Amino acid sequence: MEKKSSVSRIGVLTSGGDAPGMNAAIRSVVRSALARGIEVVGIRRGYAGLISGDIFPMDGNSVSRIINRGGTILYTARSDQFRTEEGMQKAVATCKLLGLEGIVAIGGDGTFRGASALASYGVSVVGIPGTIDNDIVCTDYTIGFDTAANTAVECIDRLRDTMQSHERCAVVEVMGRHAGYLALQVGVAVGATAVLVPERPYSFESHVADKIRRARLSGKTNFIIVVAEGAASAVDVGEQIRQEMGLDPRVTILGHIQRGGAPTVKDRVMATRMGYEAVRLLAEGKTNRVVCAKGEQIINRDIMEGLAMEKTLNPEEFEVMTVMTGK
Ligand code: F6P
Repeated sequence: MEKKSSVSRIGVLTSGGDAPGMNAAIRSVVRSALARGIEVVGIRRGYAGLISGDIFPMDGNSVSRIINRGGTILYTARSDQFRTEEGMQKAVATCKLLGLEGIVAIGGDGTFRGASALASYGVSVVGIPGTIDNDIVCTDYTIGFDTAANTAVECIDRLRDTMQSHERCAVVEVMGRHAGYLALQVGVAVGATAVLVPERPYSFESHVADKIRRARLSGKTNFIIVVAEGAASAVDVGEQIRQEMGLDPRVTILGHIQRGGAPTVKDRVMATRMGYEAVRLLAEGKTNRVVCAKGEQIINRDIMEGLAMEKTLNPEEFEVMTVMTGK
């Protein structure tokens, strides 16, 4: 049995782009809070709901049968109003009116900047990292990444079948905003011919054309080029392949399909552990913290200190990809 806390009521919201596993995190926050005798309210549409007071009480039943569902039952939004002084004051007023002694904010770095601003007005806030991009610098892992990577791999495996039959080249654009974590992982997992990520400058000749040439010389007649959306446009890369190599490539932009679907075991478990940790922090009177993964460990950091950290693409994973695609 969890220790009873002096905190009596908290809110939970999801903000920014959704990610598979957010529902599992919401469920964990609700169940972990109830176990400590803390009431929970759900806040709809992120900070916009905190401003407008769009909230509802949550109990154990309201989070039944959601651990396996993608998306977020709380809906999500990006609120411009929350960035204004007036919007912030309204959000703070909602917390006071409803007696919310803490907020768990699930989302990406924009969500955490908002959470930290709210904390400066005296509202206790803890963030949980949820984004398919895995681009939050203070944590090794963000909820949704594993599911999105698996979804992209499944899609590209299917593409591979038809590329093989027709002896074609596929150029596939993978999400990730300004980061290449998703594209690199997916590229390694599908055995791509070439992978382009924003963190490493590329030249078409050596990082695309030469890779295709080498693959062809080794006997291959179908090619998969994985392009991170932050590195280049798959349409442009496809066009260059057509013009400079005389191939007839097919371009696929995976897009938002990567954000949906049932979360993997990893995302369900990480979300559940992170939700538990967020509630523990609020129950112990902590604020302005972000829950992070450090290897297999769940830790927490000051939000602004966390956001000022640096994170780089794993050089070993990049090297492995380079060798696998023919140096
Ligand atoms: O941050 C998650 C993400 O899916 C990025 O990979 C992508 O660039 C962006 O969100 C798309 O945003 P939107 O849902 O607003 O189109």
